[in-house]
Amino acid sequence: MAYRPRPPPQTRGSTDDRRLAFRRQPPGKGIVIKRIAILISGRGSNMEALLQAALPAEVCAVISNDPSAKGLASAAARGLPVQAIDHKAHASRESFDAALAAAINASGAELVVLAGFMRVLSAGFVERYRGRLVNIHPSLLPSFKGLHTHRQALAAGVRIHGCTVHFVTPELDHGPIIIQAAVPVLPGDDEASLAARVLVEEHRIYPLALRWLCEDRVRLHADGRVEIAGAAAAAGALHSPALQ
Ligand code: GRF
Repeated sequence: MAYRPRPPPQTRGSTDDRRLAFRRQPPGKGIVIKRIAILISGRGSNMEALLQAALPAEVCAVISNDPSAKGLASAAARGLPVQAIDHKAHASRESFDAALAAAINASGAELVVLAGFMRVLSAGFVERYRGRLVNIHPSLLPSFKGLHTHRQALAAGVRIHGCTVHFVTPELDHGPIIIQAAVPVLPGDDEASLAARVLVEEHRIYPLALRWLCEDRVRLHADGRVEIAGAAAAAGALHSPALQ
């Protein structure tokens, strides 16, 4: 019989079973369910990877700045609470960010997870969620910030490429690194083949990082160092099987 999660006492607000991040197992004793808001702009494959990861999390909001984002439809089909906040309807970045923050706060989210969210966020917004705002970027930061990271990697001729999960800081694609995964750049690679290889790793490390965050195993020090309780397990996740 499929496990039907009972709303844990720690969960605030309404408790719709479908919002629980598809846990197939009951959470371990003492595990607190975290409320997470997932922000997307497009197809939402990283969001899907998170939803399938049986995290000790309740997805309390899926928000897109693009009302036509495919991921919004797939989240809605799963019965998740979705919202489009169209950035084009806002005269300034600050006004959009204020609407976004209002929606996040109304959802009661403890963690804000950028999963292919393609808007640059204002410093005020980022500061507001310091230590609770994470992103996945398709390169081994600090290399290849911004857009077209796979094109940048091919142009630079690197032999190793990859992806990074990091806390967000006001500087674009910058911030304390939680986990990275590396993949080889192979002869004959083009942007599409390299992107596909990196995406496999994105789908592996983002759920892992979120699990650590949900389990309160990630400590962000004042100097920007990130410490993960159970560091041996963390080290095991650093290399793609493709590199072994
Ligand atoms: C991913 O490669 C993510 O790292 C980048 O944009 C892409 C979004 O993909 N920021 P998806 O929407 O998660 O499928």
